[in-house]
Amino acid sequence: EGQNVITLQRTPSTNEFLKKELSKSTPLAEGTVIMAVDQYAGRGQKDAIWHSEPGKNLTFSLLLTPTFLNPKHQFHLTVAISLAVAQWLEALLKTPVKIKWPNDIYIGDKKIGGILIENILAGKTWKSAIVGIGINVNQTVFPDPISKQVTSIKQILHNDSNIPKLLAELCNHIGHAYQALKKESFDTLLATYRKRLYRFGETHPFLVDGVKVTGALAGVTEAGRLQIDFEGHVVDFDIKEIAFVI
Ligand code: BTN
Repeated sequence: EGQNVITLQRTPSTNEFLKKELSKSTPLAEGTVIMAVDQYAGRGQKDAIWHSEPGKNLTFSLLLTPTFLNPKHQFHLTVAISLAVAQWLEALLKTPVKIKWPNDIYIGDKKIGGILIENILAGKTWKSAIVGIGINVNQTVFPDPISKQVTSIKQILHNDSNIPKLLAELCNHIGHAYQALKKESFDTLLATYRKRLYRFGETHPFLVDGVKVTGALAGVTEAGRLQIDFEGHVVDFDIKEIAFVI
């Protein structure tokens, strides 16, 4: 929570920047935040790109060392971070904010933020977790393939927000959630996460290995696999196996 924010004017990706810093000999303190004004080659999950207009949005990476977590329980960190981001945004915007499994941040059917957590392990022990977060803040025009699928804080509040102030508030919120993760039972946290899932309980088409199938989003397992109910037959999937059809 001790806020140690380093702001870079221009960098390809804050996750990449942190990763490179970690390979150097001088260790960085847990809680270090790298924020980019212009992140020009941002990355998302499944090799996606993360687009952000310079100076308009939150694009940052937070360094954590979650040694208290069993490395098998990486999903616990995903749950804690995505819940913290969603709860913070919901309080700010006063409108429902959902988590599209595993960790996209949605308002209605539009994406407002994304999270890319990269866990670095040495054998079976933690070195660090790079928590990359992108939130659309003051950008209102988006490039064509995504223009109708995304939204921003400005599109909801209709005015500009102060980016450094939002960054400080959000990091503070995440800091509390991270401390709570050390004490709380994961069952409680997972139950809260499930309730916030985008399309929870709803029946929709999904793409399974590229094939369209229809089922109801039934939940998420403790290990973070998505459970789909096909007329009473529940199957769970990994992120690489299933995609939403939006
Ligand atoms: C996703 O939507 O799949 C995740 C997007 C994550 C974007 C953030 S922006 C800061 C950090 N640096 C990156 O290159 N990506 C993350």
